[in-house]
Amino acid sequence: SAAEKDGHDWFMRKEIFEQPRAVADSLLGRHARNGLLQLDEMRLSDQELRDIDKIIIIACGTSFYAGLVAKYAIEHWTRVPVEVELASEFRYRDPILDYSTLVVAISQSGETADTLQAIRHARLQRSKVLAICNTNGSTIPRESDAVIYTHAGPEIGVASTKGFLTQLVACYLLALYLAQVKGTRYGDEISEIMRQLESIPDQIAAVLSRADEVYELARAHVDTRSVLFLGRHAGYPVALEGALKLKELAYIHAEGFAAGELKHGPIALVEEGLPVLCVVPPRGRDQLHEKMISGIQEVRARGARTICLAEEGDTSIEPYADHLIRLPRVPVLLQPLVAVVPLQLFACELATAMGHDVDQPRNLAKSVTVE
Ligand code: G6P
Repeated sequence: SAAEKDGHDWFMRKEIFEQPRAVADSLLGRHARNGLLQLDEMRLSDQELRDIDKIIIIACGTSFYAGLVAKYAIEHWTRVPVEVELASEFRYRDPILDYSTLVVAISQSGETADTLQAIRHARLQRSKVLAICNTNGSTIPRESDAVIYTHAGPEIGVASTKGFLTQLVACYLLALYLAQVKGTRYGDEISEIMRQLESIPDQIAAVLSRADEVYELARAHVDTRSVLFLGRHAGYPVALEGALKLKELAYIHAEGFAAGELKHGPIALVEEGLPVLCVVPPRGRDQLHEKMISGIQEVRARGARTICLAEEGDTSIEPYADHLIRLPRVPVLLQPLVAVVPLQLFACELATAMGHDVDQPRNLAKSVTVE
C-alpha cells in the first residue's frame, strides 16, 4: 500500500529517499570520543588483523560493485593488496588462500547461495571470513568469523539502493579500521575522513532535493535502446552500477566502462545520439579529471549525447556536457556515495515511464538462494 511506501509509488523510490538516514545509521556509534574507530561486532583481534597480508572480496550483483569501490579505499589507506571476485567464479579457479588472507563477503541479504558457497570454501582453506551484511542473523554472517552489519533497514525493492550505499559505508569503515590497527594512517587523518563521511547524509539529501531534474531527463529517454556509462577510479564501479540498474529495471542495453578503456574498443559503439552518462571525478592533482574530460570529448566528437555528473563549481566540464547533473564536492574515494544516487533515480524513473514494475523486475529475485 501507499502507506507502507511512505507515499511513494515504489519501495525502490522510498528506499532511495531513505539513504541519508541509512548512511547515518550505518555510521552511528563507530567513532568513539577518543577519536578511535570501533567496530563492535568485529570478532577478529587486532593481532589477527595485523597478520592479514591479502584481502579477497567476494560478492554478487550490486554488492560486487561495492567491493570494487572498497578495493580503491582499502589499498589506498592500508597498503594491503585487495582482489575483488564474483562469488560464482571464486571456488572454481582454485584461489590461493591461507590464514593470512582475509575474505570479505558482501551480501545485503546474507543468503545469496553463490556467496555462501564461496565463504565455505574460504574457511575450509583456513582463511578468516568477514561478512558485510544487512540482515541480522542470516546465514552468511552466521558462518563468518566476523561481521560488520549495515543499518539500511529492510530493503524490499529487488534492485539494491540503500543496501549498496550502506555497504560502501561498511567498506570504508573496514578500510579505516584496518589502517588504524595496522598503523598505516594516523588518528587525525582517520578522524578527518570520518568527519567527511559524517557529512555525506546531508550531501545525499542535497542530491535528492534535485530529483526532479533527473526525472525529467529520464522521461526524455523512454525511447532509448542503449546507454553507455563511463567512469574512472572509484567512479568506474559507479558506472557499472548505473548500467546494472538500467538493465534490471528498464530492460535496455546498458554498459559501464572505465573511461580510459574507451579507445580499446567501446568507442566503436558510439553513434549519433547515443546517450553516454559520465561520472566525472573531482578536480584534483592526479589528472583523473583532465583525462575524463578528454574521454568525454572523444565520445562527443562522434555524436554521443553526454550527460555528465560533475562536482559543484566544476566549470571546465560545461562545454562538453549536453546535460549536467551537479554533485556535492567530496573526495574522490567517497564520491560513489553521492554519484550513484542520480543514477538510481534515473533508472527508477525511466522504468516507471516505460510502464515497468520497478519493485519486481522480470526474471529477477531479491535474494538468489540457488547457485
Ligand atoms: C540479486 C539481487 C541484486 C543483488 C544480488 C546480490 O541478484 O537482485 O540486487 O545485488 O542478488 O545480493 P546480496 O543479498 O548477496 O547482496
